[in-house]
This record gives sequence, structure tokens and C-alpha cells, in this order.
Amino acid sequence: MSFSQERSLDILVLAAGLGTRMKSRKAKVLHQLDGRPLIAHVCRTAESIQPRQIYVVVGHQAEKIQAAILEGLGQDRVTFVTQAQQLGTGDAVMSARDLLRDAESTLLILSGDVPLIRAETLQLLLERHRTSQNVATILSVRMENLTGYGRIVRDEEGRFLQIVEEKDTSADEKQIREINSGIYCFETSKLFPALERVKPANQQGEYYLTDVPEILLRAGERVDAYQHNNVREVAGINTRAELAEIENLVRRGTIRGLMLDGGVTFIDPSHAYVSSEAQIGRDCVIYPDVQVEGTSTIGENCELRAGTRITNSRIGDNVVIKDHCVIIDSEIDSNCSVGPFAHLRMHSHLEEGSAVGNFVETKKSRLGRGSKSMHLTYLGDATIGEKTNIGAGTITCNYDGKRKHETVIGDNVKIGSDTMLVAPVQVGSGSVTGAGSVVTKDVPPDSLVAGVPAVVKKSLVERKDEKQG
Ligand code: UD1
Ligand code: CA
Repeated sequence: MSFSQERSLDILVLAAGLGTRMKSRKAKVLHQLDGRPLIAHVCRTAESIQPRQIYVVVGHQAEKIQAAILEGLGQDRVTFVTQAQQLGTGDAVMSARDLLRDAESTLLILSGDVPLIRAETLQLLLERHRTSQNVATILSVRMENLTGYGRIVRDEEGRFLQIVEEKDTSADEKQIREINSGIYCFETSKLFPALERVKPANQQGEYYLTDVPEILLRAGERVDAYQHNNVREVAGINTRAELAEIENLVRRGTIRGLMLDGGVTFIDPSHAYVSSEAQIGRDCVIYPDVQVEGTSTIGENCELRAGTRITNSRIGDNVVIKDHCVIIDSEIDSNCSVGPFAHLRMHSHLEEGSAVGNFVETKKSRLGRGSKSMHLTYLGDATIGEKTNIGAGTITCNYDGKRKHETVIGDNVKIGSDTMLVAPVQVGSGSVTGAGSVVTKDVPPDSLVAGVPAVVKKSLVERKDEKQG
């Protein structure tokens, strides 16, 4: 077949419904699967087959849905179409009539609530549509658990006749195992005239897009259903139970892949939660109830102990994250140790071989190579040098009620237990603060400060000299 003859491809995604069966105040397509809204999955797949333009029909919570889509797609790649009232899938497509009816294109229609469809499958559908020179091609699948799906009715010779919605099926039609995935290719110029002839004469009183193939067939056009073999891909999500089922399938697939191809050990694979976008290096050991979210990457030979959550963070090799840590938008270099019960957030960075321990929180802070902060500490907006020890109970007092201020601590510093560092403040390399000090002024290098407020007690350089003498 000559591909120069191909028409342009446009994609239309239906996402205007509330999704009543979710029993939610939130529009269905905003519910999350694998850490991203359903609609984001569909739009990413749509974009990956490089259509001329993506149209999304929105209605319920249109603004939020648009925002969710624009997080992943450029503004110029997507055109939003508003469906004022949700009168059915046929009416949803109709809302794009003015934009599309004169387009010389093939229109691929996707459902915002069918998130796992793969680009490869859509390509196969398109290929079938084009090589058969159909005016409409429906993506169908055979399945056993059929609740809620429209049935594909064929004649004795197996030729497509019509789609019947479950609520409108006869007892015989209910037995049909081939279902409508809600994904179709149409020749745009033929779709809209047929759509105008759709009547809401059905159980739900809606305008069904599913009536269009039969209308086209009766008008003498070529219409067919392309039967695909992957049931999971076309699973539609209508209820929270279905969402949980699909989430579980995706998760199990991700973890299985990590075990078989990635060389990762899961102590209990049924209680681990790893985003399909995350990466985990070989010989990592993942304990129960660990969550690795977003685009986190974890190096080789790390140990993630029970109850830890890691979101959009980068972790090097040979890192031990002990039980119950929360690590968000942060970086941990190789050979570090974290936790138990530590909280790293907002671009915290632990450099090679450093450690934070029990009940330590860091925010926008950098802990230099080999430095340690092991107990009951808050480090906010702090930059800490190498081989420095932050004593138990240290707090960077970074907020004066109006603004945040920085604390800078040098190399080889010993911050005594229960030190309050009132920012902005600097502690020079080689210095020591006495237990319970409240440091309000910069501390020169190699000095011992103590007291409330802390004052320089002596120079540590002199003391070393005295000892030598
Ligand atoms: C639809 C199909 C059914 C198919 C199933 C596959 C129809 C009439 N039925 O049923 O044959 O087996 O998908 O998953 O098309 N939407 C709008 N505006 C509306 C109504 C719906 O934009 O007025 C959107 C929804 O947001 C959703 C999609 O269209 O993303 C499908 O709607 P839904 O109500 O879930 O259709 P199903 O009952 O699942
Ligand atoms: Ca649906």
C-alpha cells in the first residue's frame, strides 16, 4: 500500500463524563493509576503515535482535567472541546463537529477511561483500517468478564452487523463474548453525517457513538471490528473496584519485571509498590510496604527497609534506607545511610558516604561527604561541609516568621547536642559548638563557642598549639 495516500491522523479523546459509578466528587479520568491520572495515560499514548492533533472532549471538571493533560502535553498539541451536557458518547463526539467535520483525516477515538491501551495496538488498528479501506473500524476483544461492555454482533458469516450496549441486549446477545473496547477509527468526513442520525432511543436515553457503525454499514460503507487479543489493554475503568484491579495488575507486572529482568529482590512482592516509571538497580533488596513513586531511580545493591516511601528521588549505589523513611524530590549519593524514621524533602542532597539517622528532617539542605546527623534534628536551608557531625537535637532555626534564612556549616565541625543555629548564620570549618548553645552570630573557623547566646570561648587552633608545646 502506498503510504503517501494516507490521510492525516487526528485523535479524539472522550473525557467529559463524571463517571457516576466511581461514586466520587472527582471526575473519573482524574483518578490515579500508577501514580498518574487516567487521562494522562491515554494522552501520553495518543501523543506517542504522533497524530496531527489531539482533541479532548471535556465537560465535568474541565479545568482540572485540562491542567492534568497539560502537565504532560504541550499546549499546541492539544485542543480542548467542551461538551456542555453529558448526553452520551455520541454527543461527546458531536461537540467536536465544527472543528473536525471538514477535516480530510482519519479520526482515532479513544476513551479517557481505557488507560492501558498501547500505541502498538493502536497502530495495528489503524493499519487494519487503512488496508481494508474501511470507513469505520472498531477495536474489539473477546473476554469472559463482560459486565458493562457493548457487544459486537456479527452475522453467520462473521461479518460485523452492529454494537449493542449491555443494557439493550437480548438474552442471546448477552452471551456474545466479543466486546467493544470503546476505541475506533473513523473517516472523519463520513463520521459526522452519520452521527447526526443517531437517536437516543435506548435504555439510557443517550446518544450512543456505538450506533454510528451500524448507520454507516446501512449506508453501504465498509465497517468492521478488528479483534485484538490482549484483554487487559482494553479494560475500561468504571468503578473503584475495577481501578484497584487494574492498579494491582500494573503493579504486579512492574515488580515481576524488576525481579526477572532487573535482578531486584522483593521480600514480599505482593506488598511492594513501585511506579512503572521508576528504576531500581540490580541486587537491591526491597522489604515489605516500600513505595517507590514517580520517576525515582535507585542504584545497585541498595536496601530499602519496611515502610519507606521514595518519591521522584535519585539514590546512588549501596545505600541503606532503614525502616519508615519519607524521601521526596531529593538526592542521595552512593554509600549513604538513612533512617530509621528520617524525612528528606525539597531537594535535599546527601553526598557520598554521609548519614542521617533517627527522626531527622532535612529540607533544601546539603550534607557533605562523610558527614553525619544521626538523631532528632531539623536541617532546613542548610549547607554542611565534609566530615562534620551534627549532634542530637540540633535545629536550624531557618524561619524568622516572615522569611527563610540559610545556615552554612564548614568541614570537620562538631555541632554539640541541642544546638540552635539561628539563621542566617555560618559556622567555620573545624569549629565546635557546646551542648545547648544558641548560635546567633557567625562562628569563625577553629573556634569553640558555647552559651545562650553562644560566644567564642577560645580558639581551637591555640589549644592544639599548647598541647604540642
Ligand atoms: C462505552 C461504550 C461500550 C464499550 C465501553 C468500553 C458507548 C455508548 N458505549 O461504554 O460499548 O464497551 O465504552 O469501555 O459508547 N463520555 C463523555 N461524554 C458523555 C459520556 C461519556 O465524554 O456524555 C466519556 C467518558 O468520560 C468516558 C468515555 O466517554 O471517558 C466512555 O463513557 P462511559 O460512560 O464510561 O461508557 P461505557 O458505559 O463504559
Ligand atoms: Ca467506560
